[in-house]
Amino acid sequence: MSVQYNDFGELTMGGTSLKTLAQSLGTPAFVYDEDEIRHQMRRYHEAFKKSGLNYNISYASKAFTCIQMVKLVEEEELQLDVVSEGELYTALAAGIDPSRIHFHGNNKTKKEIQYALENKVGYFVIDTLEEIDLINKYASESVDVVVRLNPGVEAHTHEFIQTGQEDSKFGLSIKHGLAKEAIDQIHESDKLNLKGVHFHIGSQIEGTEAMIETAKLVIRWLSDNDINVSLINLGGGFSIKYTENDTSFPIEEGIKKITDAIKQISKEADYPVPEIGVEPGRSIVGEAGITLYEVGTIKEIPGVNKYVAVDGGMSEHIRTALYGAEYEALLVNRQEEADETVTVAGKLCESGDIIIKNAKLPSSIKRGDYLAILSTGAYHYSMASNYNQMQKPPVYFLKDGKAREVIKRQSLRQLIINDTK
Ligand code: LLP
Repeated sequence: MSVQYNDFGELTMGGTSLKTLAQSLGTPAFVYDEDEIRHQMRRYHEAFKKSGLNYNISYASKAFTCIQMVKLVEEEELQLDVVSEGELYTALAAGIDPSRIHFHGNNKTKKEIQYALENKVGYFVIDTLEEIDLINKYASESVDVVVRLNPGVEAHTHEFIQTGQEDSKFGLSIKHGLAKEAIDQIHESDKLNLKGVHFHIGSQIEGTEAMIETAKLVIRWLSDNDINVSLINLGGGFSIKYTENDTSFPIEEGIKKITDAIKQISKEADYPVPEIGVEPGRSIVGEAGITLYEVGTIKEIPGVNKYVAVDGGMSEHIRTALYGAEYEALLVNRQEEADETVTVAGKLCESGDIIIKNAKLPSSIKRGDYLAILSTGAYHYSMASNYNQMQKPPVYFLKDGKAREVIKRQSLRQLIINDTK
């Protein structure tokens, strides 16, 4: 995490005072440390380069996307995952080379398939048998595809964000024959070219065990069924540190363990070592981003709780309400001992509109103070809504002391732009 207090007791990011930023940018606002985003991307590159394997790193747009984010992805030589017409549109608007784009999704519409074909995306990640027919029908030339497998493996993480288990809307089941059927159909097609297989076993995974076990199962299955692919994509899900109870996925050691294991498994299965793909979203942007809020009302219910309300809420911070996610808050404008446990709440009309249930903060906290909520770079802006007609906050990339606006604050006018009169 890239924030720390300076000698004047002000919280800083990359050396820049967040108090000054909050005052000049307004709140709520998302601020990302651009160097930290780039650093995370480079760590994945370095770790894979050391393995000596062919590899590709694909950033999962869903974690946070906008034109400037896609530009960073291209500058740092990553590929890009998209799952909808909107994510693809954003990627193309940023001018990324479409061959770097992978098109995911369990229910790609005909329109989306045609749009992705017209723009010649790098490959489709096939998630249903029906999709094979649709691509066959609309493609005018050869198209690379990767089959998303459902390996039936559960990663130890929150049940709402598990995606690899057997009863799932994602992927084609190995056990129930759907994956093999998809591959046979692709082989029969004269337009679809089977480039590889893919799996994604969950989110916020701290260790390497589940991924290695799944890779083993998949490589053995490929080998036993004489299926030749040049790419295995291991998906995303690498953990980040939200609070002191979490550990960030150790990219260098983790990728080494995974790639070493894959070399070994391939050898044992007598299967040529494939190119390895990963699709991190959260671990690229999660810790690099914070949310700045201004404190408003403070409500103390004697003997019960103290509510510190901020000028945003579940409209840009839904993960606490949705997953019971935990965060840390720091007072921005002065450094004092966190001697009290309070509830940081939003301003929306719902009791569940909580930012942090048990936040440790100084008891001197008062109206007009600024708070930074840490590790809000992933699945915050991208999951924001206009509930209560709240305006989506702006997003800034901070670099060399300058905050570059990458998404403007939504205006009141934009809230009614699609309303008919
Ligand atoms: N690849 C696939 C196929 C995925 O489904 C996902 C996330 C990723 C990559 C990136 O996963 P990451 O590295 O960011 O964990 N809204 C939830 C997360 C949903 C993730 C869905 N898929 C949250 O806020 O935790």
